[in-house]
Amino acid sequence: MADEPLVLGIETSCDETGVGIVRGHTLLADAVASSVEEHARFGGVVPEVASRAHLEAMVPTLDRACETAGIALSDVDAIAVTSGPGLAGALLVGVAAAKALALALDKPLYGVNHLASHVAVDQLEHGPLPEPVLAMLVSGGHSSLLEVTDITEGVTPMGATIDDAAGEAFDKVARLLGLPFPGGPHIDRTARSGNSVAIDFPRGLTSRRDLERHRFDFSFSGLKTAVARWVETEQRNGRSIDVADVAASFQEAVCDVLTRKAVDAASSRGIEDIMIGGGVAANSRLRVMAEERAAAKGIRVRVPRPGLCTDNGAMVAALGSEMVARGRRPSALDLPADSSLPVTDVLV
Ligand code: KG4
Ligand code: ZN
Repeated sequence: MADEPLVLGIETSCDETGVGIVRGHTLLADAVASSVEEHARFGGVVPEVASRAHLEAMVPTLDRACETAGIALSDVDAIAVTSGPGLAGALLVGVAAAKALALALDKPLYGVNHLASHVAVDQLEHGPLPEPVLAMLVSGGHSSLLEVTDITEGVTPMGATIDDAAGEAFDKVARLLGLPFPGGPHIDRTARSGNSVAIDFPRGLTSRRDLERHRFDFSFSGLKTAVARWVETEQRNGRSIDVADVAASFQEAVCDVLTRKAVDAASSRGIEDIMIGGGVAANSRLRVMAEERAAAKGIRVRVPRPGLCTDNGAMVAALGSEMVARGRRPSALDLPADSSLPVTDVLV
């Protein structure tokens, strides 16, 4: 609808420079410039390289988003930006750009939480979020279960990883299997021709004792070590590694724990909808297993399309748009970039 506010969102928390433009829940543009290839040879994101890439990509990405949406910057009603959490220097580039735009255009500025944006983006694809919804966010930097009663102010953490993030585990295991960075998509692809029950890898924090203290928490570092040991032992014994079987068995272990705990968390609160976001939500096995397990408990699952699961500007615009729609007060122009912003701080 033309009378809904036009919101521009800027995301620079990691290695993607994203600029998204939405009107209400309608996505008009989602321009992303990624510096992932510059980090590939280091096997992980190098913060200084990411910050410099954001600086170079910001204006061209803004231009591209406006062109795609068929708008001029002066048409925008509000600016939203990821204020945190993320890499400090990277966040700073986006926050500085958003402040400059807000000031120059004399439009309200909303500094929003990156994690909450991963949840809000689903509205662009599947319409208004059910409330409450259980959100499982799984990416290179985070793995958390959140109870969301109102995406603009009511996000309660239920559990999180106590060591590696789910995507980090995918990336590390891919590396030891000789697959390129980022490893998630490669493991996903390779696993399709493998046997997921070939190797019985451990399921972290699922023993009865662990469940008492960590019912909704995750741990993936033991799994990563188990994969490394298994590969080492096979090589020592002169056996060749079936990469597809290792990838499939590893992926099965991750997806098993994630989906089991997400469904348990939703059931425990009587929540009937699960939303999965973050880069790992693009995983094909995770999607299928989540659907099956949730359906068995009468729970619905919403997963945005892969391009909206990984970091992008549309998700920030989506949350900003919701802030405007619900009349939340805009941020101050001295809004900070906060690398360790807690998930409960949805609007800064
Ligand atoms: O959300 P994202 O783009 O960036 C942040 O970390 O915030 O997520 C990137 C992560 C990487 O670890 C990548 O390996 C993982 O998401 N990933 C996947 C898949 N696609 C991306 N993991 C498993 N399966 C996939 N298909
Ligand atoms: Zn993210």
